[in-house]
Amino acid sequence: MHAIILVGGRGTRLQPLTDSRPKPMLPILGAPFLEHQLLYLKGHGVTAVTFACGFLPDEIRSYFGDGERLGLELTYAIEPEPLDTAGAIAFAAREFGLTDRRLLVCNGDVLTDLDVSELIAAHDAHDATATIALTPVEDPTRYGLVRTGDDDEVLAFLEKPTLEEAGVDRYINAGTYVLEPEVFELVPEGARVNIEREVFPKLVGRRLHAIGFDGYWNDIGTFESYRRANADAAAGRIAGIAPSERNARRWVSPDAKVASGADVGAGSVVLAGAVVEDGAELIGSVVLEGAFVGREVFLEDVIVGEGARIEPAQLVAVGDVIGPGVGSTAR
Ligand code: GTP
Repeated sequence: MHAIILVGGRGTRLQPLTDSRPKPMLPILGAPFLEHQLLYLKGHGVTAVTFACGFLPDEIRSYFGDGERLGLELTYAIEPEPLDTAGAIAFAAREFGLTDRRLLVCNGDVLTDLDVSELIAAHDAHDATATIALTPVEDPTRYGLVRTGDDDEVLAFLEKPTLEEAGVDRYINAGTYVLEPEVFELVPEGARVNIEREVFPKLVGRRLHAIGFDGYWNDIGTFESYRRANADAAAGRIAGIAPSERNARRWVSPDAKVASGADVGAGSVVLAGAVVEDGAELIGSVVLEGAFVGREVFLEDVIVGEGARIEPAQLVAVGDVIGPGVGSTAR
């Protein structure tokens, strides 16, 4: 099976962490998010992946290359300008002659263990034009809901509905799809088109299906969800991502320097090249590559960007995000 992964977004909600590194390359424990995603897809029988790239494509291409290390065939479609999700998928498919086959499509920012094999099987069983994976949410009023009927056929899309409008529906688009070639007929060449708002609604009544999954699902696109993704991975909550220490609920790179008198607590992640000095205490915090956390610093739910420096005893507010290189003279 060939997959297209969307990796071209600007990632504005994660700025400044995404100023010089595309969102899909942000680490989850010791590896870029995309590496986990590629291994997960490989585990479901994907053999080739085309990245639909836009913002900073070279960061991705230079890291993964042709995919030989991961045992996958990787190619890169680079848009001349952002074409939005459907535009980007169609551009990548046309660039590599993939418009004649069934494709798996994934957002490049959703950490999940949903069962792609089951999604493909459901798609085939319904002989669907497209099948959307769905994930449940607690508060449906903040999202675009997908309403399905008999036989999992999609009946309607409800954008940020009231509770009354939502009724019993609680499922949203999980950012993973199986698409048949007909879908590309709805995307003119070179046009900027959004798949959720402009393509899927036009497919209602034309064998558009969806199935719900109740496993782990987290869109890493905000500070809070990115931090939580690392904490959940460190706690071993995501199938396929193994925490380094059983039951410790934290993850420390073997290439980090954590003083014996520092307390790296639950939900915290410290990456390669980072230093955490004596007396520092971390709760639910992510310290990216090469960052420095001085003595007696207390971090709760904080993200410390790559190469940033927090001076000894410096006060950092709960939930703060320290940008890459901030506080460092090397910046
Ligand atoms: P924000 O700017 O923070 O909203 O992030 P984003 O730009 O990544 O947007 P969003 O989270 O809505 O994108 C969902 C997925 O589609 C991500 O995997 C993006 O990389 C991808 N994506 C969004 N727009 C484009 C685009 O114009 N081209 C390509 N190739 N991918 C896109």
